Amino acid sequence: MASDLYREQILEHYGNPRNQGVLEDPDISVERDNPVCGDVVRLDVILEDGRVRKARFSGQGCVISIASASMFTEKIEGKTVAELKAMDDEDIFQMLGVDLGPSRVNCGVLPLRALQEGLARWEAKQKGSAV
Ligand code: FES
Repeated sequence: MASDLYREQILEHYGNPRNQGVLEDPDISVERDNPVCGDVVRLDVILEDGRVRKARFSGQGCVISIASASMFTEKIEGKTVAELKAMDDEDIFQMLGVDLGPSRVNCGVLPLRALQEGLARWEAKQKGSAV
């Protein structure tokens, strides 16, 4: 069944996370915690010509948050800033492919929240330096 495949994929990413680590001199670097449990995910992104050149994550969390961060860093590589800004919770639910249930939604969207906060800060900085 499709959801079994997604579950396997989640466990596989948790056991063997992609793009784990931190970046030197990233354009975006944000740490976000899940207010429900206190787990933390940090997302570092390097942008080049308006696209994600590199994305890394670090931190601690449950299976869903770590798998989501691992899959998320793969998903956003190469995306433009406009594409990043257009991402929403539904993209995360589709990426994970399982019904998270209300108690796990915060876990799944943790890397997206970090990105959203990071983009807002990055844009504010761009505007500030343009004046
Ligand atoms: Fe903490 Fe999922 S239980 S991030």
